[in-house]
Amino acid sequence: MIKLIFASLIAVSLIQAKELNTQMQEFMNTLKIEAKKQNLNFKEFSYARGEKIFTTERIGKKGKLISCVSCHTNYLSKSGRNEHTNKVIEPLSPSANAERFTVVKDVKKWLRRNFNDVYVREGSAQEKGDVVTFIINKK
Ligand code: HEC
Repeated sequence: MIKLIFASLIAVSLIQAKELNTQMQEFMNTLKIEAKKQNLNFKEFSYARGEKIFTTERIGKKGKLISCVSCHTNYLSKSGRNEHTNKVIEPLSPSANAERFTVVKDVKKWLRRNFNDVYVREGSAQEKGDVVTFIINKK
């Protein structure tokens, strides 16, 4: 019984660690409404689709193969390095970096820029929601 209580306490704290603040939840809801308008079959954001978006290499804005991984690495709780400027990038995972996914304005700005770096276009609402879902849940 005690074991069970501990296990559920741990489960609850894990869920809370991933919980977004109110502004970010509103942002995700807005993306969801937008995604539904654009795709009648849309149900939920998907970790798997987000992972594909994050790891797929494309000929990017600078005419070279690039992916989100190029700058942020596959280890989202570790620091990355900017392919273009060589500057260190703090970890993207909110479990390793409490400042991540707290300021909607910054999240929007970087998603727009970074989609453009890799996909040479702005991401759709569904793509943005998918990739955020992947980043905040990746272990
Ligand atoms: C050319 C390098 C580069 C690439 C490629 C790149 N990023 Fe970034 N990313 C950055 C930099 C630089 C920042 C801003 C500095 C920082 O926040 O540490 C950033 C910030 C972010 C943030 C902001 C998080 C927050 O809470 O502030 C998100 C989300 C993000 N990137 C997602 C992505 C996704 C998704 C892709 C692929 C489509 C991607 N990045 C590709 C360099 C890159």
